[in-house]
Formats: sequence, structure tokens, C-alpha cells
Amino acid sequence: MKGLILSGGKGTRLRPLTHTRAKQLVPIGNRANLDYAVDDLSDMGIRDIVVVISPETGTEVQNHLGDGSAYGVNFTYVLQDQPLGLAHAVKTARPHLGEEPFVMYLGDNLLTGGIGHLLEAYHEGETAACILLTEVPNPQSFGVAVLDEQGQISRLIEKPAEYVSPWALVGVYLFTPLIHKVIETLQPSPRGELEITDAIQGLIDWGFTVRSEKVRGWWKDTGKPEDLLDANRLVLSRLERNIAGTVEESELVGEIEIAAGAVVRNSRLRGPISIAAGAVIENAYVGPYTSIGQNAVVKDAEVEYSILMQGAQIRHLSRRLDASILGEEAWMGGRSRKSHSYQVILGDRSSVVVDGE
Ligand code: DAU
Repeated sequence: MKGLILSGGKGTRLRPLTHTRAKQLVPIGNRANLDYAVDDLSDMGIRDIVVVISPETGTEVQNHLGDGSAYGVNFTYVLQDQPLGLAHAVKTARPHLGEEPFVMYLGDNLLTGGIGHLLEAYHEGETAACILLTEVPNPQSFGVAVLDEQGQISRLIEKPAEYVSPWALVGVYLFTPLIHKVIETLQPSPRGELEITDAIQGLIDWGFTVRSEKVRGWWKDTGKPEDLLDANRLVLSRLERNIAGTVEESELVGEIEIAAGAVVRNSRLRGPISIAAGAVIENAYVGPYTSIGQNAVVKDAEVEYSILMQGAQIRHLSRRLDASILGEEAWMGGRSRKSHSYQVILGDRSSVVVDGE
């Protein structure tokens, strides 16, 4: 069994964060989204993993993942020139997948229950594909499966305009090489992509067995900024206390991770919180569900339910920062904590919400 991770695409819905980085590398609980996908595959004993990358962010993804030795796996990178769809990505990776079954994992998906049950649903010689489903309140944003009375899949539709089913396809799939044959016959969808949902529908139309399993634990497609904050919350809610950094004159409550080399001084922390190496928290309050990236600074400021990426800084804020995401090296601050003015330099498509003015 091989692995296939899709880490191409454009990430337009996560702008401005994805102007400068691959969306699959956005940190959640201080680890790249992609790292969780690699862990899930490697936990299942899958060692050979093909990674589809794009011309825009491929180098960054490759620099992050390396050759795989850090994860105990082997990566083979495949460049997809244009984001022409998930099935197009499979077609591009085809020469590296051989005649083996493979698990395809979308690099912006996050699961906590692992993928063991997906592999258990697969029976060699009987099953052409296995998919994961979960009930969602907004099925129009996903591929969906219509199930019959026996719970078998009767139809699959990508981003249905009208409500047909609450069961969304999760971005983790197990395929046999039969999928390549269907993909050869696919035509682009109305949005101009070769859809993997149509390819799976093709397997069903050809009379092959496609099995579905319900997701265990939770699942998140981290496509939008609010999803990132929620994913961060979900990852941090499993955190265990681990204080390796320096803590001085501070009050720490709950599950908190402070990496070696981080400093917390004269501050109040209410977990769950993850603080990466080199970060400095001083005269501050850090509230639940916050991730503070490497070398980030929180000084004379309050923050909760937020993500500060590597090198981001907040200083001298007279109000608490809430539900916010600061990209790498982003800076937000007043001239002193009593300051009541704002002075900002914000990148394209940034947004600032000022409550209570
Ligand atoms: O997250 C689950 C959903 O993922 C499924 O319910 C849908 O059926 C499936 O089509 C997909 O929908 P999205 O609209 O969320 O796909 P997105 O364009 O965001 O791409 C998913 C991942 O695949 C993302 O990490 C980027 C990568 N990708 C995407 C395309 C279109 C590629 O590597 N190449 C591509 O051509």
C-alpha cells in the first residue's frame, strides 16, 4: 500500500496567509497541517508516499518535508503544473503509484481518529475503493454521498447546489489501480476540474464495490481562516502538560506545552496553549486555545483563541486579541499599553475587526 498526499492547489480561501505560504503548511497546534497527514499514513505502516506539489509552493513543501527520514517514510515529489482537479493530481502521480492500492490524503484535511478503519474496510479483490464520510451542516461546500436505506452509496455529487444528502466526503480515500482506468475517461466538471468524486461515481457505474466508513473522532477541512482556529482548538484540546521552557513569576493553569528555549515571565496562562521554542511571553495573559509559534513575542498584551505564527509579535495592546491569526513575522502593537490609537501596515486582503469602538 502506498500513500499519496495532495499538496498542490492554490489556497485562495486562506489569503492573505497563503499569499506567502502553502496552505498545507499553515501551523495548527504548532505543527504543519501536512505533518498530521504524514503521521496518519505512517501509523498505518505506509512508508512510500508520493507528494503532489505545485510550481508556486512546491519548493516550500519539499523544504519542510525533506526526504521523509525525519518521519520514518520515503517521499517522492511530483509536480502538477496546474491545479486541474484531484483526479488530475492522481493522473499526474500515476507513474509513481504502480499497480498497488494507495491511500490518498488531502494535505489540508485533519483527522483525529486516524485512518485504521478505512484500511479495515478494504478487502483485496472485493473492494475497488473505500471512502470516509461525515455528516456536515453545509454539504454544498463538499463532495457528498447519497446513501440508500441499507446505507450503501447510491450516488456521489461534487458541491451540490441543492440539498441531496448531509454526508460529506472526507479528503482521505483508499483506491485500487482501477481508479486510473476511470480517470482516463473523465471529462472536466463545470468548474473545469477532473473531480475525484466523478471518478468514484465512475467505479460505481462500472459495477465495482465502493465501501464507505463514517469518520471516527473529528475531521476538519482547513480551507478557511475560521476553520484553522477551530482545528487549532481541536488539536490543542488533546494537549498534555509539558513545560520544558523557562517560567518565571507566572501562573499556569491547565494543559500547557512550553518548548525548551521559550520564556514565560510575569504572565497568566490558561491552557490549552502551545508555545514553541524561542517564544517570549512577558507581562501578558494568554488564554485557551492559543498557539504561539517559534520566536513569537507576546509582551504587555492579552491574547486568546488565536494563532501567532513563527516570529509574529504583539506588544503594548490595551485590548485583548481574540480569534485572530497573525502570519509569520506579522507585527501588531501600540506605542505603549495605554495607547488608544492604531497604526497599521497590513498586507493584501488583511482584515482587522475592532470591537466596542
Ligand atoms: O476536504 C474534502 C473535500 O475536498 C471533498 O469533500 C471534495 O469532494 C473534494 O473535491 C475536495 O474539495 P475542495 O474544494 O476542498 O478541494 P481543494 O481544491 O481545496 O483541494 C484539496 C487539496 O488538494 C488541497 O490540499 C490542494 C490539493 N490540490 C487541489 C487541486 C484542485 C492539488 O494538489 N491539486 C489540485 O489540482
